[in-house]
Formats: sequence, structure tokens, C-alpha cells
Amino acid sequence: MKDHFKEKSKEWDKGDIRVQGAKTISDAINKKVQLKSDMEILDFGVGTGLLGFDIAQSVKKVYGVDTSQSMLQKLKAKNTPELSIEVYSQDIIAMPLDRTFDGLVSSMTLHHVQDLKAFFETIYKNIKENGFIAIADLESEDGTFHSDNTGVFHFGFDKNNLCKIVKDAGFNNVTFENINTINKPHKDFGVFLLTAKK
Ligand SMILES: C[S@@+](CC[C@H](N)C(=O)[O-])C[C@H]1O[C@@H](n2cnc3c(N)ncnc32)[C@H](O)[C@@H]1O
Repeated sequence: MKDHFKEKSKEWDKGDIRVQGAKTISDAINKKVQLKSDMEILDFGVGTGLLGFDIAQSVKKVYGVDTSQSMLQKLKAKNTPELSIEVYSQDIIAMPLDRTFDGLVSSMTLHHVQDLKAFFETIYKNIKENGFIAIADLESEDGTFHSDNTGVFHFGFDKNNLCKIVKDAGFNNVTFENINTINKPHKDFGVFLLTAKK
């Protein structure tokens, strides 16, 4: 699989919008979901761990999954004995993980997932009973958020369409709320947080 983040990974953590954006998402997740010290959480599309390391401070362990070796290299360099993320480097739709988690978090990765139905049906099996998902990404946009749309399968998400896919996969208590606005010189882009329970 081609690593679309090979170049981006080099400067990823230097982007203020990304760092601040991930912190805003983490704060919104903390407000919406009661994270507990005995929880094991999967960060889907963990990247360099901008969201994952923040979440890791409130739970027992964060596991990260990502298909980009270069992003995971950056993450691994940030692991310490006190705070670390264990990673899976695989496409979990094609090669599902054979275990369950108390919850799944994700920041700005869903738009890279082509088959949403397959994705939500897969992760449903990876979440424990009463577990949660908390996924943040772009609200519907016109395709100008990224300067290069290689590897981008969705120009943001429509609330009703996405919530239906999540419910059809078996999740309940689905919520969708705006949590941030990313101001780019040419336009503003809304960021949502979707949560649901198994
Ligand atoms: C926009 S970055 C976000 C990274 C991180 N969550 C953050 O907020 O900084 C998207 C990440 O998702 C990963 N990704 C894309 N498609 C993926 C897939 N099918 N499975 C796992 N990771 C994927 C990319 O490699 C990249 O690291």
C-alpha cells in the first residue's frame, strides 16, 4: 500500500492547526465520554499520536492503528516508559484485529476510508458491549480543504448520511455535533464529533 503520508509525516507535528485541532478533539471527547483509568482504547488512524497521547493520560492504554509506516515512526519516537502507544500497522478492514477495546477514538481519518459500511461493521466487532466510538472529522466541504486530494475518499460528511451508516452497523445513542472550525485563508471548515455506543 502506498504511504500517502511519507512527506507530510516529516512536518506533521509542526502544524499548529493540527496540534491545536487534535487538542480540541481530545477535550471534546473528554467532555462527551467518561474516560476511565482501566480502559483500553483504540485510536484509528493514530498518525503521530497527536490525539492518542492526550487520551492516553486518562486511560490504562491506548493502542493505535495506522497504515502509514512514516507516521508510525514519528509516533514511536515519542513513546516513553511513562506514556506510550502500542501500534498496529495494518488495514483493519482487510485484516481485522482479533480483539476488543473499551472504546475507539479517531481524528481526521474517516475521510480516508473508502468503504464506510465495511469500516463501521468491522469496528463494531472490535468494541466491547457498552463500549463507545468517538470520531472527529470534517463536516461536508467542497473539496478544497486539502491542497491535494490523493487518498481522500470523502469531502467531509453529511450528518444524516453518516449517522444512518453508523446506526445500520448496530451502534446506538448516535450523536453528532460541531466542535471546531478550522480557519483557512480561503474558507472556514467545520469539524464534527460523532459518538455512539455499542
Ligand atoms: C489526517 S491524518 C490524522 C492523524 C492523527 N489522527 C491526527 O489527528 O494528527 C490521517 C491518518 O490516517 C491514516 N490512515 C489513512 N487511511 C487509513 C486506514 N485505512 N487505516 C488506518 N489508518 C489510515 C493515515 O496514514 C494518517 O496517519
